[in-house]
Formats: sequence, C-alpha cells, structure tokens
Amino acid sequence: MPEAPLEVERIPIAAVIVLAAGAGTRMKSSLPKVLHPMSGHPMLWHAVKAAAGLDPRRLVTVIGHQREQVGHYLDTELPGVTTAIQDAQLGTGHAVACALETTGDLDGIVIVTYGDVPLLTTATLTALATEHVEAGNAVTVLTAVVEDPTGYGRILRSDQGSVVGIVEQKEATPAELAITEINSGVYAFDAAVLTDALGKLTTQKSNGERYLTEVLGIAHAQGKTVGAVVADDAVETEGVNDRVQLAELSRRMNARLVRQAQLAGVTVLDPQTTWVHADVTIGRDTVIAPNTHLEAGTVIGENCVIGPDTTLIACEVGDGAQVLRSQCQRAVIGPRASVGPFSYLRPGAVLAEGSKVGAYVEVKNSTIGEGSKVPHLSYVGDTEIGAGVNFGAGSITANYDGESKARTTIGDRAFIGTNTTLIAPVTVGAGAFVAAGSTITDDVEPGDLGIARGRQGQVRGWVLRRRPASAASAAAVAAGARQSDDFDADSASAEGSPVPDSGSASTVSGEDNPT
Ligand code: UD1
Ligand code: CA
Repeated sequence: MPEAPLEVERIPIAAVIVLAAGAGTRMKSSLPKVLHPMSGHPMLWHAVKAAAGLDPRRLVTVIGHQREQVGHYLDTELPGVTTAIQDAQLGTGHAVACALETTGDLDGIVIVTYGDVPLLTTATLTALATEHVEAGNAVTVLTAVVEDPTGYGRILRSDQGSVVGIVEQKEATPAELAITEINSGVYAFDAAVLTDALGKLTTQKSNGERYLTEVLGIAHAQGKTVGAVVADDAVETEGVNDRVQLAELSRRMNARLVRQAQLAGVTVLDPQTTWVHADVTIGRDTVIAPNTHLEAGTVIGENCVIGPDTTLIACEVGDGAQVLRSQCQRAVIGPRASVGPFSYLRPGAVLAEGSKVGAYVEVKNSTIGEGSKVPHLSYVGDTEIGAGVNFGAGSITANYDGESKARTTIGDRAFIGTNTTLIAPVTVGAGAFVAAGSTITDDVEPGDLGIARGRQGQVRGWVLRRRPASAASAAAVAAGARQSDDFDADSASAEGSPVPDSGSASTVSGEDNPT
C-alpha cells in the first residue's frame, strides 16, 4: 500500500486582526504609512501575507486614519481581507474591540498583528500559535530582547519567569524601564478570554486610550496562563514609524529576499546593490550582476545573466537570456535573447527566442521574431518583425503622425538597410530588402527591393577648382585627381536626381550581421 502523503498539521486560527488605524504622523506623508512600499509592495501587503499564511477563518484589518485610501487598497489588492473601522484612535485595545464587532463571536485562537511591522513572517506566527496551544495558554505574546527598549512596552515576569503583564514606557517605574524584553504587539489570544478582558480595560488617564496590553494582566489575575515566545530575530518585531526606519527595514527585507534567491541557486554578485522585489522569481544558475533591480512580478528563467546596472519591472525572461545595462518594463524577453547595453524595452515588447536588441535601441508594443536582430540605435514601435530579420543601424519606425499610432509589419528574413525610416502603416514583405537611407511610405512586396532616397551626384574636380590651396586638394592631387573641364560646376544637376531607375545590390548597404 502506498504511504499516505505527509500532512503538515495546521493549527486552526479563528481570526487574525491586523491593526492599521494609527496616524503615522512621523512619516510626514500624505500617503498612509501602511501604504508606503517596501520590496515592491505596501508594508500592509507584507503584514497581510504573513497573516494569510496562517490560513485563518477571518482576516480583518482595522483601519481609521486615512481609511479611504487604505480601505481602497485592501478592497482592490487584497480582496480576501475584511475591514473594520475604528473612527477615533482610542488605543490598541479599542482597535481590537472594533474588529471583534465585525466578526461576531469567535471560537478558538485570535492573533493580533500590526500593519506597520513588515518583516514578521508566517513561520514566527506559526511558532507563536504552536506555543500557545502546546502550553495551554490563554494569552501568548511575541517578545524580543533588544539593546534599547525605549518606547516599547516591557514584559513583566514573575520570579519563576512566567509572564504576569506588560507595562508601557509612560507608566513604567525606573526598575521596569531597565527591562530589555519588549512587547512586539503581536499576540495569540483565546477568543473568549480576549472578549471578556476587552470589556474590562481601563481608560488611561494620560491619553484616554484603552491598552490591549492590559489583557495580559487581566488574564493573569484571573489565574489563566500567560506565556511568551521570544523572537529569534528581533527585526521581525520592528515597526516603521519614520522614513529612516522605512529605509532600514527595506534594506533588511531586501537582504532576506536576496539571500532566499542565493539559497535557491541564484548567483548574486553584489547583494548590497541588488534589489529584488517580494514577488520575483529567478531560476537556477542565473547570475545577477551589481546594481540590478528586479521589480514587481518579474520572472527570470535559468542560466540568464542580468545586469550590471539593469532594471526589470514586471518582465518575463526566458532561459539563457542576457540583459546588460538596460531598462525594461512589462517586456517579454525570450530564451537566449540578448538585450543591451543601454536598451529600453517598454510595455508590450516581445522578443522571441534568440533575438537581439542592442545598444541604444527602444522597443515598444512590438514583437521581434525568432533570431531577428535590432542591433544599434533604433526605435521600434507598434511593429511586428518576423523571424531572421536584420533591422539596420539607426533605422526607425515612424508609428505616430501626431494624432494616432499605426503599425509596421516586417516579414520573415527581410533586410532593413541602415538609417531607414518606415512610415507606418506600412508592410515590408518576407525576404524583401530596403535600401539604406530610405524613407519607406509604400509597402515593399516580398522579395522586392524598396529604395527611396536621393540619387548620388558627383561634381568632378570640385575641390581642385574651389579649394585649390587646401590640404584636401593636395591630398586629392596626390591620389591622382586632375582638373576637369568637362563639368559645369554651377549646374543644378550636381545635386543628383531624386528618382533612382534601378537598384543594384550595391545600393543596399546594411551593416553586416554584427554578432
Ligand atoms: C504598542 C504597545 C507596546 C508595544 C508596541 C510595539 C499598546 C498599548 N502598546 O505601543 O506595548 O511595545 O506597540 O510596537 O498596545 N493602532 C490602531 N488604533 C489605535 C492605536 C493603535 O489601529 O487606536 C495601531 C497602529 O496603527 C499601530 C499599532 O496599533 O499599527 C500600534 O500602535 P502604536 O501607537 O504604534 O503603539 P505603541 O504606542 O507603539
Ligand atoms: Ca509604534
């Protein structure tokens, strides 16, 4: 008989309540504090993800200050989360009471976390819930031992070491202020104990608040067991109050994400200057060179080389591709494709397998077919390029007439000579050639040569007549140039006829395939 798959036993969680009603005054921002981004997502996203990892029956965020913005974000981006409104910020105890009004009676474990504590992990919450259950606690608080406990609530323990309560900085005695074990503000509660104690909270004389921390003392006084879990890494309990902490915790979160990538088989040459957003995926044996930013849902395959000095935003990169010193947003870079240096891929750029977009090339809303090359100094917009096309240096698609955009289509194996302007809408057929320097307004049929440029004229002996004493003249004479009388120097024909009669292969001067 086959073995049953190993089931990880989950502790059933009745609700997680994420507190996010506070003002965040010290951010000095018109953006609500919990919406400030870290690793590509608002702080609140990280807090909610950690909470959601417990798979609770209810996930409630308490909002108050700037509730329209925060509520809108939750409704649109995190639809599994319900919101509870706390009209006036009357303290953490009051905030949890507001949440419980929306859930009705709960049975089981209730976890409380903060929206501005972004590094807290599901693993630590699970450890908290596990200890809560195994120790048979009524309340379990997540604590941390820190060097400087200033500002935090201090954990009060009995002589035997059991938790008896929490005292806030404001109300602490000098002896209590010396305690270095602090309250993180994250707890597991027995729902019935919590509901009962919330009804018994006192209103603080100093600020009119009701403190959630008082629940621990109340439970202890009722003879219930109150326990604590000390966080392995105190950074998980740190909150963001100002932009200095925002930067510091962003750095810490980034370090965690870079490390995860490294442990999953990605070479990161310089973790300090590599920024990886929380929802980025990178395949094995890919190398990330210094000063590279991988943002917002970027997915990178295996064996790629990305960077240095590259930003990828919501891009998809196939196995074995290379991106060097480039900026790319919502682009698809196919397997073994090569981008850069100094390329700019804008939304809708799709590079097929083995294609190349080279130096100083911008591509927008266009497909570059398999093995096709746009190697130098081009703009390709609203264009479909087939397979095996060479798009010569300096050539561009003129996709905008000042009012609307139009499309360009280039068939398989076509050759676009250098410095061509393709005026859209226009089609260059499969296997067609376009002569260098052409301005193409009409379709070029498959296999034809399109040529549209001034014909070259030559004024014989011009330098010797007009610049007789110059170095150029001397060089020309040394090279065998002679005075010529058979040409009227002032004739208009010197500028050449604009209409070519026939093209020969020699008029097509595209750059050779440079790679
Ligand atoms: C609180 C704890 C303190 C702990 C610290 C950890 C209390 C009384 N004190 O202090 O023991 O060491 O957190 O950071 O709980 N909030 C609301 N509504 C309110 C008040 C706060 O939603 O009416 C939210 C805030 O948005 C914030 C969190 O609760 O996310 C904590 O509030 P804050 O004012 O920062 O609490 P502290 O005074 O720092
Ligand atoms: Ca705080």
